[in-house]
Amino acid sequence: MENVSQETKKLLKDTEHIIWDKQIEVTHRMYEILFEKYPETKSLFNNFRSHQPNMFAAALMAHMISLDEPEVLLSFRVGICRSHVKAGVKEEHYPMLADALISAIKELLSDQMDEKTIDVWQKWYYFLANLLIERERDHYAEKHLLFPK
Ligand code: HEM
Repeated sequence: MENVSQETKKLLKDTEHIIWDKQIEVTHRMYEILFEKYPETKSLFNNFRSHQPNMFAAALMAHMISLDEPEVLLSFRVGICRSHVKAGVKEEHYPMLADALISAIKELLSDQMDEKTIDVWQKWYYFLANLLIERERDHYAEKHLLFPK
């Protein structure tokens, strides 16, 4: 996370436990908000699986633990990107999920996190999102190789 200041990293690390303790509640609420506010995203999920919120939380927290060495999670991201490309997740969907995530955090954790901290978590989401988006661009370019008919 080279392009993020030491101050931002410190704030993330200092508040990691708050998200950690409520990660499953937050991600469940995140998907509820996503589908309420952006119903067009529902059809991307083929029978929304009950463990999807847990998988999202795992991805978020694993990347938080490896804040300074995201390369160790490359194969994890490759798996996510393959699922995304298969489902048709596009760049324009990421701000929708960001909005849902931040709304869920505000709903559930605003007594423990101030605006500045929530803003830092949004930055963090986009850091991870950009790692996925870049790779997904390449996967889309090679889609016929990944998923031959
Ligand atoms: C930083 C952002 C994101 C993270 C960390 C993330 C994480 C994940 C993970 C861990 C999986 C499971 C991969 C597997 O099958 O092994 C997944 C699948 C999926 N994600 Fe994401 N995701 C992100 C953004 C998005 C966005 C923006 C959308 C669309 C609104 C989306 C829609 C999906 C769909 C449709 C699947 C496949 C579900 C299925 O196969 O049932 N994701 N994602």
